[in-house]
Amino acid sequence: MSKQVLVTAALTYANGPAHLGHVLEAIQTDVYVRARKMLGDDVIWMWAADTHGTPIMLRARREGITPEELVARSHAEHLADYRDFGLGFDIYYTTHSPEDRAHCEAIFGALKQRGHTDVRAVEQLYSEQDEMFLPDRFVKGTCPNCKSEDQYGDNCEVCGATYSPTDLLDPYSAVSGDKPVLRDSPHVFIKLESYADYVREWARPRAEGGGSDLRPEVRNFITSFLEKGLRDWDISRDKPYFGWEIPGHPGKYFYVWFDAPIGYIGATEKWCRDNGRDFDSYWKNEGGDTEIVHVIGKDIQYFHCVFWPAMLHGAGYTPPSRVQVHGWLMVNGTKMSKSRGTFILARTYLDHLSPDYLRYYLAAKLGADQNDLDLNMEDFANRVNADLVNKLANLASRSIKFIVGRLGGRLGAPAEDAAPLLERARERFAEAPALYAEFESGKALRVAMEIADDLNVYMTEAAPWKLTKSDPERARAVNAAAVYASKLIAAILKPVIPSWAEKMERMLKLEAPMTFANAADPIPPETVLGAYETLAERVQTKTLDAIIEAGRQQAAAESAEDPAATSHDYEVEALSDEVGIEAFGPVDLRVGSVLECTGVKGARKLLQLTVDLGPLGKRTIFSGIAKSYPDPAALVGKRVAVFANLKPRTMKFGVSEGMILAAGASDDAVTVVELDPRARPGERIT
Ligand code: 2FM
Ligand code: ZN
Repeated sequence: MSKQVLVTAALTYANGPAHLGHVLEAIQTDVYVRARKMLGDDVIWMWAADTHGTPIMLRARREGITPEELVARSHAEHLADYRDFGLGFDIYYTTHSPEDRAHCEAIFGALKQRGHTDVRAVEQLYSEQDEMFLPDRFVKGTCPNCKSEDQYGDNCEVCGATYSPTDLLDPYSAVSGDKPVLRDSPHVFIKLESYADYVREWARPRAEGGGSDLRPEVRNFITSFLEKGLRDWDISRDKPYFGWEIPGHPGKYFYVWFDAPIGYIGATEKWCRDNGRDFDSYWKNEGGDTEIVHVIGKDIQYFHCVFWPAMLHGAGYTPPSRVQVHGWLMVNGTKMSKSRGTFILARTYLDHLSPDYLRYYLAAKLGADQNDLDLNMEDFANRVNADLVNKLANLASRSIKFIVGRLGGRLGAPAEDAAPLLERARERFAEAPALYAEFESGKALRVAMEIADDLNVYMTEAAPWKLTKSDPERARAVNAAAVYASKLIAAILKPVIPSWAEKMERMLKLEAPMTFANAADPIPPETVLGAYETLAERVQTKTLDAIIEAGRQQAAAESAEDPAATSHDYEVEALSDEVGIEAFGPVDLRVGSVLECTGVKGARKLLQLTVDLGPLGKRTIFSGIAKSYPDPAALVGKRVAVFANLKPRTMKFGVSEGMILAAGASDDAVTVVELDPRARPGERIT
């Protein structure tokens, strides 16, 4: 039976353009939405830009425009980027909408009426230099929980703890660096503890009578907060603030995290009105059949899995039935970084390459877990070329081209001896829909790959190209088997690369678009196939290099525009005394290629590297860079500068035979000096 499903991806913040981290989540959501539509469910994807809060207010101020203008610009950019990535959302609305405001007021009003809100004075950090209270993201300092430095005022990116800005140790204004003072201000709170029992119940599996489908790690995350007791949630911010003023509380505004998820509701109301659908069947249907599925990153679980179900339930709205949490997107093994050029905007990618390839690569690596996912450019090219081009497209291309080019185009029936193979392919194909419905796109795509592997072997053994003259009907039948398998493959690929399936639908002259229900139907043997349409083309490494380079240039241009980014708010050592060139002579620097790089047991700061110096042999080097390289493997394959005639040093862990050059003063901000990959190991650096 068709189910009514409402899906959301997190709302992209409107203070700037979308980057590949946003795109990862959008692709995961899109694949899920498309797959469930192929399953016959009645699915809508409600999406919007997240538009309120201090960062937007301050950025607009800096640019000399109104926040509304900034939001309109970002909204238009997001919309264009997301459309060009082929994302099938039903609406990309905005939280700066009358619908969002009305639902904020309705939810707040309901909670207040039930006595679940409170007003009390809070001491807050106030910057006299910035003339404002410093909310969450505008104050930084040391995490009170794990003592990591430079964490924001609302939650720690290292340990995941949430706290209020005043809990930070050594706070400073992220706007000006000013040291803030404490001042009192009345704030509005939601008494969350009133909802602890409800949230506990909601977090239990639906199959056991609870309220949600969550992965065990998400459930554990919620439980750990419930065990500590839910602290009242401060939902107000003082003016100046870009957002909705709280009714009955002049000068106080709804905190952006209160109104942002309500954007899901506002978008639905707008879409329902424009499309003649029943809003209440989605959001006023607690306990009903409608599924509400949120796709989010692991940093915003607390908001979606604790506050959100509580406030929805408290105000009589439908709580989510599932919250799907993904990990971070890494690029080339490390967190996206502007200086490395790996902070890639959605548009930068689109300027260079078809979205289909990234859609495929990310979907192939995605599962339902929260593991971080690495976009490794070399692996990206290899995988697209090996999987999509050499395997999947090749099977369709050689069989369709053969029938069209050499056998007059009539398909014919699949060969008898391929029947067991095709039966197995159908069985495997039948596994894909459930995998997609569980966010296991990587596993679903592996099914396609296995079908292609089997058929490619069959084709090689049957060698129809040798039979064109001697036994054309056998050649036709062998190719027809490959065409049929290619149809199953196209259906599996359809949620990920819709255009691939559409091309197949045209080439195979299918009467109806492929769904999971009809894709295994036989193709009428009398079908005359259409001309082959290219399904995938090789990705060149130089295109990927160009993306990284464009990312680097983009970041450089941005920092030139952004005075904050060029203010050099860090200190460097004074320059040493002047010396002649001869001072450089005794130091023998060589090009090294990193062969291995691993952590060292018992030494948290050290990494152990095996470095190839070409004709000079290999070296073991211990380097104090571990804190800056949480993924040591990211250094493997890099060309580095080695102080090669440094006297070997015996350490507790072994002998260190040289030193790797690196920049950066503090332990966790060291960057290894990377050389041009063309540099040859062992060559002297002068
Ligand atoms: O973390 C973010 O970037 C937020 N803009 C996500 C909001 S999701 C939802 F709550 F609106
Ligand atoms: Zn922490």
